[in-house]
Amino acid sequence: MKRILLALLLAATPALAFPDRPVALIIPFAAGGPTDVLGRTLAEAMSRGLGVAVTAENVTGAGGTIGGARVANARPDGHTLLLGNIGVATVTAQFRNPPYDPLVAFAPIGLISPVPMVVIGRTSLPVRDFPGLIAWLRETGLGVNLAHAGVGSASHLCMTLLRSLIHTEMTAIAFRGTAPVMTEIMAGRVDISCDQTTSAMPFVTDGRVRAFAVTSPARLPQIPEVPTAGQAGLPGLEVSIWHGLYAPRGTPDAITQRLAQALRVALAEPRVVARLADLATTPEPPERVTPEALRAHLADEVARWTPVLRAAGEFAD
Ligand code: MLT
Repeated sequence: MKRILLALLLAATPALAFPDRPVALIIPFAAGGPTDVLGRTLAEAMSRGLGVAVTAENVTGAGGTIGGARVANARPDGHTLLLGNIGVATVTAQFRNPPYDPLVAFAPIGLISPVPMVVIGRTSLPVRDFPGLIAWLRETGLGVNLAHAGVGSASHLCMTLLRSLIHTEMTAIAFRGTAPVMTEIMAGRVDISCDQTTSAMPFVTDGRVRAFAVTSPARLPQIPEVPTAGQAGLPGLEVSIWHGLYAPRGTPDAITQRLAQALRVALAEPRVVARLADLATTPEPPERVTPEALRAHLADEVARWTPVLRAAGEFAD
């Protein structure tokens, strides 16, 4: 009798037909940058867990919002996902007409990893340390070319904080990601930026760009000679970038939970952990790799950064 009941129950519960084709992971910034490096590592690992190809696709521009809008408007069936960084939370504060409201446009899947940032500059700058850099920025003002990945990106957030903390206007130049920013710094065509360790680390360690300070509360073991901004005299410059995985609003719970499970498995793979360690980051613990944790974190971060950014005031239309 029990067996018959079980068979009836199973017949009444349709198996989850997901995924039934490749999954597109939208990377909203340029190839070779921090989001791309993290995204390609994850895509490969999640392909193994989901049993279908997960293909990373760079959809760039407008500080990451073109890629974000692509996912917000995609069919909510779990086959189009967004890898977003802290910029997902700052979009409402930085656009006069935000392309979407992150708190309603997406179905959160899970947090991925926190990543420190590092203030970098061209090696031909006439200064070698962070206090020297701050003095030079103040003195040079609009003569400084600072680069970022568009209003609303993580690098823009870091540069906005720096400018407002030292009360100095500089000339900002926007790129489609920090990979092209890095190329411009190495060529000496722009002066400074702020990038995530996930892509900056190799350029810093082999001396192709100069690292002035990290924005984390403590020094990083991978570059122990670089002080925190706080140690070097600017304690307000503390910001940690975080990443989340999102599906479009309306994606069924069973699918977001399946994706969250695949994300947890991917982040626990020893080769993923080792790759992230090389890039000075670690995966979030499993209890934060859930739709609930990402939803709560996103709401907290929107509330935290909106007043700060409105006060610092640089907007895109
Ligand atoms: C990138 O991948 O290029 C960066 O995450 C852009 C940014 O947010 O600064």
